[in-house]
Amino acid sequence: MIIVQQVSKSYRQSRFFKKRQSVVKAVDNVSLKIKEGSTFTLLGQSGSGKSTLGKILLGIEKPDNGEVLFDGMNVHNATGKKRKKLQQSMQVVFQDCHSAVNPKMKIKDIIAEPMLVNEKLVPMQIEERVGELLEMVGLSRDDMVKYPHQFSGGQLQRITIARAISTRPRLIILDESVNSLDVLVQISILKLLKRLQQELKLTYFFITHDLHAARLFSNEIAIMQKGRIVEHLLVGELEQAKHEATKALLNSRLTIDCIHNYLEHNEEQVV
Ligand SMILES: Nc1ncnc2c1ncn2[C@@H]1O[C@H](COP(=O)(O)OP(=O)(O)OP(=O)(O)O)[C@@H](O)[C@H]1O
Ligand SMILES: [Mg+2]
Repeated sequence: MIIVQQVSKSYRQSRFFKKRQSVVKAVDNVSLKIKEGSTFTLLGQSGSGKSTLGKILLGIEKPDNGEVLFDGMNVHNATGKKRKKLQQSMQVVFQDCHSAVNPKMKIKDIIAEPMLVNEKLVPMQIEERVGELLEMVGLSRDDMVKYPHQFSGGQLQRITIARAISTRPRLIILDESVNSLDVLVQISILKLLKRLQQELKLTYFFITHDLHAARLFSNEIAIMQKGRIVEHLLVGELEQAKHEATKALLNSRLTIDCIHNYLEHNEEQVV
């Protein structure tokens, strides 16, 4: 569904103690393919270029070189109707759900915002659709009249997920979407995301620095270091990883069995 071809992106950075600007290669000649209905995970340390690549996929950032094709359409050259269609087809969920929502807006308006960009709906249609979306993410229709401060972090993340699926996207970029939550809440959100993936036939581009979440959740894993993909594996091949960066991540596998057990044997809970 997505083809990324030899994409690079550099930023100029000025530091107050240095006279000259330096150039950071945030993404350095990256190529990859994402299959429809799968979860492709991008794993890497802070500053390795993961979010920059995510933004390039979304079309928010333009690469210096290379191209991104969505169903054969160039994401960065699309105009008019094609551009609108692409915007509807791709959504993003960020890590910090508190700053991702406007505290002064009602939940109904937060969730309806992206769908109103492209669709004209009357108030009754909006309420019906928002109610449906809230139920899909495990919340209640009555929640639509509340404000963000009335929810926990996990519930708020469910609300940002409801907002993301409101335009019936095909690809969702999950940029560290569970990392700021505590472990049990992380698991409940991962369960929700897995269920929605099946129900809505979604494709995920999952950005994380947590190998445990990555291996539970993905089909393919690419390890990013200093802007480059240094290793690319199917999830079942992780044990055969060759690169030092992947091996280091594999060695920190404290809670994996416990989480796995929990995922297999427990119902999704709204926490
Ligand atoms: N708008 C920008 N202007 C200048 N430099 C930037 C910009 N965005 C990112 N960078 C730089 O590009 C590099 C990669 O940043 P990026 O945010 O993509 O990393 P990341 O892997 O998402 O990190 P994290 O795990 O901390 O979110 C970093 O060195 C960062 O400072
Ligand atoms: Mg990031």
